[in-house]
Amino acid sequence: MPVIAVEDIAYVRFEAPDLELMERFLIDFGLVRAARTADTLYMRGKGSAPYVHITHQGPTARGIGLGLRAQSSADLQRLADHLGTGVEDSPEPAGGQVVRCTDPAGFRVEVLCGQTLAEPLAVRPSHQLNAADVRRRPQGAVRTAGGPSQVMRLGHAVLFVPDFEPVFDFYHQVLGLRISDSLHMQDPEKTTFAFLHCGLGARYTDHHTLALGTPPGGIESARFDHVAYEVLDLEDLQAGHAHLKAGGWRHSWGVGRHVLGSQLFDYWRDPFGHKVEHWTDGDLVNDQHQPSHGPLQLEGLSQWAPPLTPEFFE
Ligand SMILES: [Fe+2]
Repeated sequence: MPVIAVEDIAYVRFEAPDLELMERFLIDFGLVRAARTADTLYMRGKGSAPYVHITHQGPTARGIGLGLRAQSSADLQRLADHLGTGVEDSPEPAGGQVVRCTDPAGFRVEVLCGQTLAEPLAVRPSHQLNAADVRRRPQGAVRTAGGPSQVMRLGHAVLFVPDFEPVFDFYHQVLGLRISDSLHMQDPEKTTFAFLHCGLGARYTDHHTLALGTPPGGIESARFDHVAYEVLDLEDLQAGHAHLKAGGWRHSWGVGRHVLGSQLFDYWRDPFGHKVEHWTDGDLVNDQHQPSHGPLQLEGLSQWAPPLTPEFFE
């Protein structure tokens, strides 16, 4: 049994040298300013999370860590007891309680409870498609305003780490994340990458809230590979693509359909080179899910998509 089981990812935390530039990009990407202090930018989506992306002004551009949501304050206390730390009041805009630690790869991990939720922002209803086999919209027309995607929520973060096992053990044994699917390189006995979902029993949750592992060829120091945000629907993903393209931002890969998790995806780069993903229509899993285990292959990244380029692996 794990110490606790977190229920979702709350936010990611970055450092960047130019908060104005970061905000300009994130607005075009579909986020909305939640708060801004002298040295920190808090951005939210349309959902109830008070913020999903935090950037601290600093000399380098890098991913610092992530926040995860505990299911209860009792869980938070249990975690603090296990770690030999304490439960603190968060000094950040949404308040609540936090337990801070560092994972074995060096990322700052904050487990949270009791944050003040935000009022969700208005979005259009998702489109009912008149597919060729099922007509879901017997009357009415489709009208979609252009502009940034409707980012509803933060979906997952993917961490590249030099050594898979200790990092996996931490998220699995301490925070209750469970394997949805795992990958290996030459030796099938040695897992090098895993997609992890929150261990919530019968309750359905995203196929992966966190994914972590070692890329082929290894890596010297841990870093974020990408952070992924759920948008309203496929049309919204495509409209957001057009908007980001018109804004001159750097595209990475997509639109395509993933294999593990099944998401329709579109990858972009923030102005500091961090990879960010819009996705929609991902798989849900619960404790009945049967994990797969297979070789890590480039062909496994998509069912269909434009050709991969070296850009995606930078
Ligand atoms: Fe992703």
